[in-house]
Amino acid sequence: MTNLNLISPALAYIDGQWVGHPEGKTFGVNNPANGKSLAQVPDMGTIEAQEAIEAAAQAFELWRKQTAIVRADLLWRWYELIRAHAEVLAELITAEQGKPLAEARGEVAYGNSFVRWFAEEARRSYGTLIPTESPDRRLMVIKQPVGVVAAITPWNFPLAMITRKLAPALAAGCTVVLKPSEETPLTALALAKLAEMAGIPPGVLNVVTGLDAPMLGLLFCTHPTVRKLSFTGSTAVGKRLMQQSADGLKRLSLELGGNAPFIVFDDADLNAAVEGAIVAKYRNGGQTCVCANRILVQDAVYESFVEKFSQAVSFLQVGQGDEPQVDIGPLINPRALEKVKGLLADAQAKGAHIVLGGKPHALGGTFFEPTVLTEAKPAMLLSQEEIFGPVAPIYRFRTEEEAISLANSTPYGLAAYFYGRDIGRVWRVAEALEYGMVGVNTGLVSTAVAPFGGIKHSGLGREGAREGLEEYLQIKYMALGGL
Ligand code: SIN
Repeated sequence: MTNLNLISPALAYIDGQWVGHPEGKTFGVNNPANGKSLAQVPDMGTIEAQEAIEAAAQAFELWRKQTAIVRADLLWRWYELIRAHAEVLAELITAEQGKPLAEARGEVAYGNSFVRWFAEEARRSYGTLIPTESPDRRLMVIKQPVGVVAAITPWNFPLAMITRKLAPALAAGCTVVLKPSEETPLTALALAKLAEMAGIPPGVLNVVTGLDAPMLGLLFCTHPTVRKLSFTGSTAVGKRLMQQSADGLKRLSLELGGNAPFIVFDDADLNAAVEGAIVAKYRNGGQTCVCANRILVQDAVYESFVEKFSQAVSFLQVGQGDEPQVDIGPLINPRALEKVKGLLADAQAKGAHIVLGGKPHALGGTFFEPTVLTEAKPAMLLSQEEIFGPVAPIYRFRTEEEAISLANSTPYGLAAYFYGRDIGRVWRVAEALEYGMVGVNTGLVSTAVAPFGGIKHSGLGREGAREGLEEYLQIKYMALGGL
């Protein structure tokens, strides 16, 4: 393994300086696969976070005035440096998050595609000239950066969830204070190091590491200089941040929890559906917001789907992410393991049948067996909550109407998937699903070029795509009279 400290300084990054806590307070970052300590990073509090906000506010005055092409060129340099350090970044992700190295490499490419996309989009934040309603007036609209942005990111994609907030923010002319997850701060610091090497000026990007996420979140929500908060994480925390931001009327982007249905209709290509379900369910060991949480299968193909799917799942290899051929790494921490165990116990007590797996893996720690459950029912807790683990509950339905009703019977609305060939049904179902993203005959919808985000309790705003830049811009209308 490469020396991780070469790329990740394990210090906070404020106003272009790599700094520790003034009294030396730190917290440990551990490898979830073996519990080994990777680094100690500064446990910053509100005083240090305020310094970062002030640095971002000062830097904003210069950064907003740069031309779009200057910002684009710096983002391009950042992109090239991330690409040049892809392997060490992937190793870092695997070390602190646990996902298999092949997936970590995929995350670096995926995450970096946001930097590339927004380096390109930086030059396309066009305004408009409105045909005037009176001959002596001209009306126009320009777009300007929102201001200082606070970003709070999760542990499940230590790199990609950062770049898809920071790249559009920087492209738009905003400056940022980032609080990465306390489980995975090293990748965030490595990204900041590469941003510094790319020449992104001091104060434009600041990283505040800290254990007390609620306290730092409250500061971001209530500090008058912060004009926008972008958060990826649970719905419960997203709602709290929204309430705390109400007084300051901050712009919000909230990418929150999901409860994705994965529907298999009786005319689906079953082999393709199994392949899609494996990706949608077991990516990152089931620890993504867009993971299939409920697999709904039509009566006529239920038994054959269960058989094919269980067989495919039985081939998945569990192990440490840096070992070859591993498909599923550990869960992030013991709390996650307890949650999965609890959901399974509840499902079994309510009549679910375990076809495969069903218990912690023989490797110990937080490893869990890839699990398949049949006869899952809406009353079970795992049908109402995000499982965030390698457990696939399979439900049975009879009609299209029943599938849509089951799929929509959740407060969440992030991603949904379905497999089927009837073109009429494809349109009807895609339109009827109350979700921000729908995958038809595919188990993966995530890409930098399409708008990622949810409706209902899954959040507000979109990341990636053209829409991702708009999140960091505000509209100014100007009327020019007396011509
Ligand atoms: C997430 O889990 O929040 C993001 C997953 C993705 O970008 O595909």
